[in-house]
Amino acid sequence: MQASVKLENLFQKKTCVVVCGASRGLGECISVTFARKFSAGSVFILLSRDGNALGNVKSKINVECPDQVCVTREFDQGNIQQKNFDSVFQEIFHTNSICIAGFEQAVMVHSAGTLGDITKYSKELVDAETVRRNFDVNVTGAILMNSAFLRAFDETSQRVVINISSLAALQPFSSWSLYCSSKAARDMFFRTLAVEDPNIRVLNYAPGPCDTDMGKDCREKTKAPEVKKFFADAFESGKILSCQASIDKLCEVLLTNFESGAHIDYYDKIN
Ligand SMILES: NC(=O)c1ccc[n+]([C@@H]2O[C@H](COP(=O)([O-])OP(=O)(O)OC[C@H]3O[C@@H](n4cnc5c(N)ncnc54)[C@H](OP(=O)(O)O)[C@@H]3O)[C@@H](O)[C@H]2O)c1
Repeated sequence: MQASVKLENLFQKKTCVVVCGASRGLGECISVTFARKFSAGSVFILLSRDGNALGNVKSKINVECPDQVCVTREFDQGNIQQKNFDSVFQEIFHTNSICIAGFEQAVMVHSAGTLGDITKYSKELVDAETVRRNFDVNVTGAILMNSAFLRAFDETSQRVVINISSLAALQPFSSWSLYCSSKAARDMFFRTLAVEDPNIRVLNYAPGPCDTDMGKDCREKTKAPEVKKFFADAFESGKILSCQASIDKLCEVLLTNFESGAHIDYYDKIN
């Protein structure tokens, strides 16, 4: 049985927002958009492997939202070593003198993800490292990052977890078996978290096809010709979404009384 959650405007709370995969694409857009929307004095912790790109996102936030605090930390979610996940938040708090007692809310956004090898059909996936790497980034690393976040903010009264999901979590796309299966596993993990703890608001948000590096790879590298053509045609005919359009919809969804653990797509009608 899934828990229903009470309606409240999460943007009005003084919040610590963690975005993993904040350097580019949807994660960058989420970071900047959330910085505009959250209550002044909120803290943004931006993570990804690319420190320079994170620095650029931080600069944007500093210019546009000088009342927010933004810190960055290089982090490879696919490097599955216990110590990386055990210590990441304590290190960030210590290095940046962040006191978590002052937050009314903590929000974790899981945007980091990889398509993996989309140049092969399922039966051609013979390389152990390729298969492992995809699940390390998309599943194992996301789970461990999430647990690290929940432990670090154990005392925070409101916690919200947003998994950037995909239609591919629900529907198979030919030659995307690693991506589809890892996104499906990730959705189910977060659905399970939602039933285990009704005090955590959990959302699996599928952003629709967006104009990002990943979106470009979909239309250029996909092996299955019909899938490649579908995304190339969508791009040519202007049907690919801007990140901003998709993230504006995410913000609308977050203000509804969605069922915790729900999978909500950009194209879904919301109340
Ligand atoms: N674009 C779409 O059409 C679309 C559609 C549905 C769902 N999604 C989902 O949306 C999310 C973001 O995708 P996007 O389109 O914005 O992709 P993107 O432009 O390729 O960006 C991917 C982000 O994930 C980060 N990342 C990748 N591997 C990482 C790792 N090992 N450790 C830490 N961070 C890592 C990247 O940062 P670094 O490279 O700096 O580490 C980057 O910030 C993904 O979860 C994806 O599945 C995208």
